[in-house]
Amino acid sequence: MESGGRVRKPQAIENITFDTDQRINTKNAELNRVLGGGLVQGSVILIGGEPGIGKSTLMLQVALNCIGIKVLYISGEESEQQIRMRAERIGINNPDCFILTETSTQIIFQHLDDLKPGLVIIDSIQTLHTDNIDSSAGSISQIKETAAEMQRFSKITNTPVFLIGHITKEGGLAGPKILEHMVDTVLNFEGDRNYGYRILRAAKNRFGSTSELGIYEMQDSGLREVSNPSEILLSQRDEAVSGITIAATIEGLRPMLIETQALVSSAAYGTPQRSSTGFDTKRLNMLLAVLEKRSGFRLATKDVFLNIAGGIKVDDPAIDLAVVAAVLSSNEDIPIDSKTCFAAEVGLSGEIRAINRIDQRVSEAEKLGFERIFISKYNFKGIDTKRFHIRIIPIKKISDFYSHLFS
Ligand code: TYD
Ligand code: MG
Repeated sequence: MESGGRVRKPQAIENITFDTDQRINTKNAELNRVLGGGLVQGSVILIGGEPGIGKSTLMLQVALNCIGIKVLYISGEESEQQIRMRAERIGINNPDCFILTETSTQIIFQHLDDLKPGLVIIDSIQTLHTDNIDSSAGSISQIKETAAEMQRFSKITNTPVFLIGHITKEGGLAGPKILEHMVDTVLNFEGDRNYGYRILRAAKNRFGSTSELGIYEMQDSGLREVSNPSEILLSQRDEAVSGITIAATIEGLRPMLIETQALVSSAAYGTPQRSSTGFDTKRLNMLLAVLEKRSGFRLATKDVFLNIAGGIKVDDPAIDLAVVAAVLSSNEDIPIDSKTCFAAEVGLSGEIRAINRIDQRVSEAEKLGFERIFISKYNFKGIDTKRFHIRIIPIKKISDFYSHLFS
């Protein structure tokens, strides 16, 4: 780290001062939330995601929205005209937003020196190259070195810098991953490209919690902030269909009701197929094995498909019971009432396990008009049931579940 010519001396920690409210409001509430309450001066944020997910759109939107702050958006991926066209689509005008199409860091630093922006966006780190290293742009050593140069610039000038990084489908990018330790914050932009919803998660954050997340929907005019995540839950349906259930999940710190859809049918060919989107296939297989072993459902010869509505990837274990209910409902071809939801984990011995923040889940379900919620018996004890009008049904074992479910 550069010391700026001065000799550094040890300082008593209590004498070190800082401004608590030096955070920049990005005018994007979801992004502010994920950053831990806005953008910290002099911080470097890596924003990774698969190609086409919307990283450039998100960053251009931030650049256009930050009126009053001089923003330099540096692109090595698109022409000025293309970026202008995208800005037209987003439909915001910002005289303080500047575009530079350049990939040489030496030239970029000259422009940074002239323009002195308050915020810098690099799209993408894989396109940059520096004269200090011989290898070609996009190689590991170029990515490391150009990122290190941007990081030094950021710390010396106290300017926040966003670095966009492409990630391959497998997540194993020979790129941004190697930068994670160098930057202050790592954000991942995720979603299924076939659906509109996108989730922004912090994988690392020196200035905030990593449990917050931001939710967006890609529309014709850019990314819309989704401030009420439970809206994602509904694939509009008028009539009762079997195989559909609702899980009361918590993603990050926010309650979110999510629809799960299962299709169970007799395997047409020898080996039954198991596939899922938005849910871990291994976990699905585990739940099916538990159903088979602990409650005697014959699923081994069935194809099972599972889908989380909105193409959102969920890692909350509380979704298990909704998945099991969807599988049972499809298998029996009995629809489950649309005013019913589920929040519990399922264990290997078929026990219905307690999950965290049950009160918050139950209140969200009640708020959204649900009439019944199935939870673990072990969670039930802790709940002040008088507070709620929604019927709370405690379940202890998977083998008891069936009779309660279709009663
Ligand atoms: P893009 O931001 O280019 O993705 P990334 O930088 O992560 O590769 O956006 C990708 C997709 O978003 C592209 O297929 C077009 C679509 N899109 C919209 O649907 N609406 C819009 O307003 C914009 C700007 C893009
Ligand atoms: Mg892009």
